[in-house]
Amino acid sequence: MAVAEQQENPLLEGLRLRRTPDPCALVIFGASGDLTKRKLFPALYSLALRHLLPERFGIIGVARTEESDDDFREAMKAAVQEFGRDAFQQETWDWLAERTRYVATDFADEGGQQRLVGALNELDEKQGTSGNRVYYLAVPPSAIATLIHEIGEHRSTDGWTRLIVEKPFGRDLASAQELNAELQQSFEEREVFRIDHYLGKETVQNLLALRFANGIFEPIWNRQFVDHVQITVAESIGIEGRAAFYEQAGAIRDIFQNHLLQLVALTAMEPPIDFTAESVRNEKVKVLRAMHTPGPKHVVRGQYGQGFIEGEEVPGYRDEPGVARDSMTETFVAAKLFVDNWRWADTPFYVRAGKRLARRETTIAIEFKRAPHPPFEESAEGELQPNVLVVHIQPDEGVSLEFAAKVPGQGLTLRTVHMDFLYGGAFRTGIPEAYERLILDCLLGDTTLFTRSDEVEEQWSLVDAIVAFWKRDRPAFPNYEAGTWGPAAADELMRRDGRSWRRH
Ligand code: BG6
Repeated sequence: MAVAEQQENPLLEGLRLRRTPDPCALVIFGASGDLTKRKLFPALYSLALRHLLPERFGIIGVARTEESDDDFREAMKAAVQEFGRDAFQQETWDWLAERTRYVATDFADEGGQQRLVGALNELDEKQGTSGNRVYYLAVPPSAIATLIHEIGEHRSTDGWTRLIVEKPFGRDLASAQELNAELQQSFEEREVFRIDHYLGKETVQNLLALRFANGIFEPIWNRQFVDHVQITVAESIGIEGRAAFYEQAGAIRDIFQNHLLQLVALTAMEPPIDFTAESVRNEKVKVLRAMHTPGPKHVVRGQYGQGFIEGEEVPGYRDEPGVARDSMTETFVAAKLFVDNWRWADTPFYVRAGKRLARRETTIAIEFKRAPHPPFEESAEGELQPNVLVVHIQPDEGVSLEFAAKVPGQGLTLRTVHMDFLYGGAFRTGIPEAYERLILDCLLGDTTLFTRSDEVEEQWSLVDAIVAFWKRDRPAFPNYEAGTWGPAAADELMRRDGRSWRRH
């Protein structure tokens, strides 16, 4: 929905941004890739439509493919039309297109770097971008270290330089440490923006609002009242032609190491003293440090076989193009995690993430302990369920609270009912895409919603420990059918504790 069409809504007041970014040039490495088409340009367009980009702004797409400026602009226009969330307006596009250029180079050779430096200097002159630079590294992990090095060598001495590094940041602790060391050679931590796009999602940020802007949740947000937490990152899609990447990553590196652990950290963290980047990230790091490695019995991995998604037959993972026929890459992971601190000791966090599951759903469910003494036990019909607070990250963005209510009638029959807050209904506005928020925050120099170096290293320590014990055995893959909720062992993980995964 275009901004102009939105109804005025008093609840939106105060949500408009006050700061405008400095003039700057945004260089996108990996400009011919999928991310640039599906996410980055549509996000830039939505920001332009809302006048959130600086007037003195320029974009330079960089990739190896030979292409003219015009061809690149045409491709990006088509991408905005196909993937953008806003109705296409020629005037907004013209504004963006006028500021967009393309440079064909792989940047590894001196000639390529000079071409880019030349294009940037030209932008400074024509658009007044003042030597300020954001470099967006939307390239495969193997290309990142060289780029960081080269950008560091050629960084402009006028204006500021910032670097956005796409995930995955390394593939284990050692490689992440190497990348961090390379970054630290030429950049300050405040100049580095490690992306985890989950942090840019409105509903993920709302978790912080829910916890820290309301007095009623915090007193019960701990081991005394919470029985356990369940976090689900379920996707119904498969690997979408990304076999080369996914075969190396698997669910543990693709989702668990970043998105899932971020959701755990935000759910478990202590209230920060303020909302500055350091305060928020300090608290998240403390959670990651407090997590001990789960034993092998507490981690389940799976790989999907052939099955049905929404009535359509889909191939098993090993039959996806580009995947080895005997691949041992996991497309599902579930774990029982513990945060060893005063707030959470002995409270399990059950987490799961997977591809080709029954439905797309990301939720955080806080299940509270049962009422200590239900006085109507004898006469009540229907089972008394525990209270659950569910944060729906996506789809159906919102929050719901489940509690027992009396069914109208003579007897005392109880049923679980839901009290729902739905974003769409309450704010009557489209939810911004995560990339809009994150690009804008980077242009504003705010690192709060980006992963800090020590944070990413803590995440990898946990993953390394899990991957190490996975090396010892070979599960019989595939072990779940596409379109189901994962392997039986994931249900067993909960059943052993007398609990079960939520199904909706
Ligand atoms: C990416 C993963 O980080 O997140 C993908 O690489 C995954 O495999 C995607 O599909 C999910 O993002 P979202 O925003 O659709 O939940």
